Amino acid sequence: MGSAELNEFVERVTERTDIYSVVSRYVSLSQRSGRFWGCCPFHNEKTASFSVSADKGLFYCFGCGAGGNAFKFLSLIENITYFEAVKLQAQRLGIDLPAQKISPELERRRRAEKNLIKLNETAQNFYHEFLIKEARGEVGRKYLAGRGITAETIETFKLGYAPEEWDNLLTNLTRQGFSPPQMEEVGVIVRRKNSSGYYDRFRGRVMIPITDIFGHVVGFGGRILGAADEANPKYLNTPETALFNKRKILFGLDKSNRAISAAGAVIVVEGYMDAISLYSAGIKNVVATLGTAFTPEHAKLILRYVRKIIFCYDSDEAGQRATIRALPIVQAAGAEVFIVKVPDGKDPDEFVRKHGKEAFEELVKQAETLIDYRLKYVLAHTEHETTDGKYRALQEILPVIENIKEEVTLNEYCKKIASALVLDEQMVADKCAEFFRRETRKNEISNVKRLKPSDDTDFKIRIASEDVLRMIWYENDMLDYVLAMVQPEIFPKEHQEIINWFKSCAAQEKRPDKMNAANELSDEANVELSRILMEDVEDIHDTEVAIFEHSMNILRRATLEKKYHQLLKEAEKYNSSEEAHVKTVKALLSIKKEIDKLRSNG
Ligand code: CTP
Ligand code: MN
Repeated sequence: MGSAELNEFVERVTERTDIYSVVSRYVSLSQRSGRFWGCCPFHNEKTASFSVSADKGLFYCFGCGAGGNAFKFLSLIENITYFEAVKLQAQRLGIDLPAQKISPELERRRRAEKNLIKLNETAQNFYHEFLIKEARGEVGRKYLAGRGITAETIETFKLGYAPEEWDNLLTNLTRQGFSPPQMEEVGVIVRRKNSSGYYDRFRGRVMIPITDIFGHVVGFGGRILGAADEANPKYLNTPETALFNKRKILFGLDKSNRAISAAGAVIVVEGYMDAISLYSAGIKNVVATLGTAFTPEHAKLILRYVRKIIFCYDSDEAGQRATIRALPIVQAAGAEVFIVKVPDGKDPDEFVRKHGKEAFEELVKQAETLIDYRLKYVLAHTEHETTDGKYRALQEILPVIENIKEEVTLNEYCKKIASALVLDEQMVADKCAEFFRRETRKNEISNVKRLKPSDDTDFKIRIASEDVLRMIWYENDMLDYVLAMVQPEIFPKEHQEIINWFKSCAAQEKRPDKMNAANELSDEANVELSRILMEDVEDIHDTEVAIFEHSMNILRRATLEKKYHQLLKEAEKYNSSEEAHVKTVKALLSIKKEIDKLRSNG
């Protein structure tokens, strides 16, 4: 949809939205001194400090400071983006979305995906109800209670129980209109090997729904109640499906993203139970990887909210070795990486239950930088008594300091390394320089260009621009919309050539493809485009569309801010009584209004 249609749509929904009816769906409100009051749904409270002003169309909580318009409220309470909230409200009001310029094929895929999510959500409800209501759910309730998990936490994470039976879910979902092939596609049932028919994948397990950043249920983890053995692993997870890709999912992110932004950091743990336990202890800026190493895709998800990532892994050797190895990559993606080690061989869940929230926060305060951590790790794990050993230890450490940009810090680390290994400082510095030269050359050869962020804004714009370019590549029709919303100069220099090339392709009515790109773009731009496309070779999913919207918000804001400053300069040239001045000021105000609106969108 074009920008005019989009604005018109948002306006139409806004006009017909009444904040009282939006909020009262979720919070019971009573009237007092011209406002409505209730208990804030965004923080725990017993006395009502959450207020709604119907005539202003705003809500505000005097307790936690949450506030905004009806869409902001919806986006917070439903954990969705601002634009998704507008769409949700439109749906509730029966207002149609303007036709999206998305191909029928993409539309079809999105519909199929929505169905699968609905199936998963129905399964989630089945497991959840079974846990809290059924007599046969008692074992599950006992298990969770034994681990200190409260009813509130069970509700928050919609934990459930899969009964120890072969086809309970299958029968139930069939009754609700889902077909076995659909159920098989999301992995909740398994086809029998030697006869026809299917059986439930999860049996006799506590069920942990796994959600994407929008809270859509994309898979499950099921934990055995007793001891694990060969045939019965501790955790059984949804296999890789169209919806479920472990490399791209961070457990809990849909619930913790606000706390992550507020804290300015995210704590990454290894297990579901660790995340659930920390979250319910009040440490809410937490996510978990699902027993896999942390991937660059994970980093990208997080970098949308914060740059500071604090890893808090079990102290066992295997876990550490596998995950820590991936971290320099994460650091290269622009993250500031810290490590917390939980003492006495405990995992975060056990630690926080035994020692409490404050003790855990204390651990986090003492988080080490990746570099310090790595340095210690290497020193503890290499024979660095001999010259040979020293050299090997040095080779292990160099990749970690490769991403330090500030010379002073780099020198400091060279000093540290030299003294730890009892080596000459100059020699370490030389080796360092030599290593960097070699790496740069390697990167050039493999065509991977590492882009170092100059500051936060540039960095955000760069990532946003990459998302937008990727979308245009797959959905060429989006180009007009993007150009209408974003001034070309806002794109990073290296991307402007690509945008221009998209334009010329459109003018010639040809679809941009890799062949044309190689022929028509400069080598530099071509390499950059390949890198952008390489990051995500898969199709554009629902998530991608939402990410695109988020990225457009960032670029649009940058465009408006630039315009604003240009106009401001212009306004200074006129005398305040001139008509031109009045006009400019009006334009300024309207730009400011749009910027504020975008800002509250995310
Ligand atoms: N995991 C898995 N399959 C297993 C064991 C572990 O998929 N057989 C994954 C799960 O995502 C789990 C994570 O690896 O959450 C970490 O494993 P572990 O530390 O053993 O899990 P905890 O969360 O500590 O589990 P619990 O406290 O229930 O023992
Ligand atoms: Mn554990």
